[in-house]
Amino acid sequence: MTPASTDLPAPLKALVGRADDALARALPAEDLPPTDLHRAMRYAVLGGGKRLRPLFVYAAGQALGCDGAILDAPACAVEIIHAYSLVHDDLPAMDDDALRRGRPTCHIVFGEAMAILAGDALQALAFELLATGSDGDDDARRRIAMLRTLGLACGAEGMAGGQAFDLAGVGHTLTLDELERMHAYKTGALIRASIRLGALAAGCDDEAMFARLDRYGHAVGLAFQVRDDILDVEGESAVIGKTAGKDAAADKPTFPSIIGLEASRERLAALVDDALEAIAPLGERGAWLAALARYSATRGH
Ligand code: IPE
Ligand code: IPE
Ligand code: MG
Ligand code: MG
Ligand code: MG
Repeated sequence: MTPASTDLPAPLKALVGRADDALARALPAEDLPPTDLHRAMRYAVLGGGKRLRPLFVYAAGQALGCDGAILDAPACAVEIIHAYSLVHDDLPAMDDDALRRGRPTCHIVFGEAMAILAGDALQALAFELLATGSDGDDDARRRIAMLRTLGLACGAEGMAGGQAFDLAGVGHTLTLDELERMHAYKTGALIRASIRLGALAAGCDDEAMFARLDRYGHAVGLAFQVRDDILDVEGESAVIGKTAGKDAAADKPTFPSIIGLEASRERLAALVDDALEAIAPLGERGAWLAALARYSATRGH
């Protein structure tokens, strides 16, 4: 059983601050009209969140020898997509949640219409950030690959598709395969994309490396959502910053509801082992990725 760490190494903690600063710069200013929309966008993204997806971008980029600056745009893009997905996930038509990151959800503060628009505008901003850069051919090619990666990860074949599986599953007993597919789309796709974006930004064009990172990303993405399901059962709202016990109350298919808590924990440990095995050939270069795999499975919120 691998998981032991519930903390992040200091360099990764520092990168949370780096991501926060880059996000604050990337978002429209609050005093710029339409101020309601811009305030809602900043509220949804800033002031909370573990910034795990940016950390996956930085860790994958660093593993392939890339420095921070070029990774800021993809790091912001994935976090902004994630924040938009949470705003829409919390809407009354979806999970109908009032608490997120320890604060009232975006639609509670700004109203449903503004929350929908904030999500729309955040999604567009993420792609704009990735598309922005110099005119050099290599750079442009890299950006097109990044745009495609993000588009696939958040559309019908990724996060939005996973949310549709999630809604269709309410009140139904899914098989384990169906549950894993839902999780792979809903949460896994964006985490896998974060890792791939870090590699693409680092200039990687090695298919074997992409395959290795994708195996790691698949395992770690699933582990992350299994942990989320377990925290929904075991966590306290004050600690996890969102309403505990929501999945059972809404009759959502989850790992604990389908295979039980104990088997969920065992699956979590096996997934971390698989993630670590996938990146073992990277040696020390993969240390941040290894730390993130352990953290995803042991995190307390
Ligand atoms: C929550 O994601 C939603 C899921 C995909 C399970 P996080 O646990 O990464 O949420 P924040 O960004 O830290 O708030
Ligand atoms: C949310 O999954 C996944 C996305 C937003 C894509 P959940 O509905 O389980 O997330 P929480 O538990 O509300 O954070
Ligand atoms: Mg949901
Ligand atoms: Mg939810
Ligand atoms: Mg959840």
